Amino acid sequence: MSGRTPLIAGNWKMHKTVADAEAFISALLPRIYAADGVDVAICPAFTALAAMVDSTRGSRVQVFAQNAHHAAEGAFTGEVSLPMLGEVDVHGVILGHSERREFFGETDRALALKLPAVLEAGMVPVLCVGETEDERDNGDTERKLRHQVQEGLAKVPEEQLGGVVIAYEPIWAIGTGRVATAEQAQEACGFIRALVAGRSSAAAETVRVLYGGSVKPENAAELLGQADIDGALVGGASLEPESFAAIIAAA
Ligand code: 13P
Repeated sequence: MSGRTPLIAGNWKMHKTVADAEAFISALLPRIYAADGVDVAICPAFTALAAMVDSTRGSRVQVFAQNAHHAAEGAFTGEVSLPMLGEVDVHGVILGHSERREFFGETDRALALKLPAVLEAGMVPVLCVGETEDERDNGDTERKLRHQVQEGLAKVPEEQLGGVVIAYEPIWAIGTGRVATAEQAQEACGFIRALVAGRSSAAAETVRVLYGGSVKPENAAELLGQADIDGALVGGASLEPESFAAIIAAA
C-alpha cells in the first residue's frame, strides 16, 4: 500500500434521516477512537450533511456528499452546488456512482466537468468506475475502465491528479453479496493506477484507488492487503456502526 493513507468511506446512498445519522455517529465514534493511520469518511444524504459535519468535528471522520453540480449556481432544479457544500464544510464528493449513471443519466461528459470543479473547491473527488457482468464476461473490463477513467480525468490539471480518489466498483458486486476476488480487485485497481501513470507517474504514486462492492468485515482485510488497493467504498456494511468499525479496524 506504499505511503498512501488508506481511506474507508461509507456510502449511505438514500438511507438515514438526520436522527438515524446522529444515532449512528454516536455509536461509531467510540468504536474507532483508537484507529490510527486510516482516513474515514461517511457519505450521507444532502439533508444530513450539516448535522454530520457538526457531530464529527474534532474526530477523524470526514463528511462527503454523494453528488454535486459543476456550476456554482444556476437554473438546475434539484441540484446542489459546490459553494453550497463548501458552506457546510463538506470534505469530498462521490462522483459517477453506477447508480447515478444507471438511474439518473450521469454521463462521462458531465463528470469531466465535475472533477476539476470539486478540486477547485478544495474538496476530494471520488470518481467511481466499474464494469457490468456482461462486460467482464466479454473481456471488456479494461476497455470500460480505460474509457471511464480517461474521460472522467480529462480536464483535471496534471498537478492536481494525485489528489483524486478513484473507486473501482464492479457493478455485478454492488449490493449482491458477490464480492470480487482479491485477485480481480487488485488487477483492476492496478490497471486504474497504470492509467493514471499514463498522465503522470508522480500522480499515480499518490492517487488512492479504492475497491467497492459487497465489502464486509469478513473480506476487508484480504482486499485491503493488495498492493494497489488503498481503501474501500462501502455500501450496506457502512449502515451499521459495528460492521463499519470492523472494516476500519481491518484497514
Ligand atoms: P455494497 O457495499 O452494498 O455492495 O455497495 C457498494 C457501493 O455501491 C458503494 O458505493
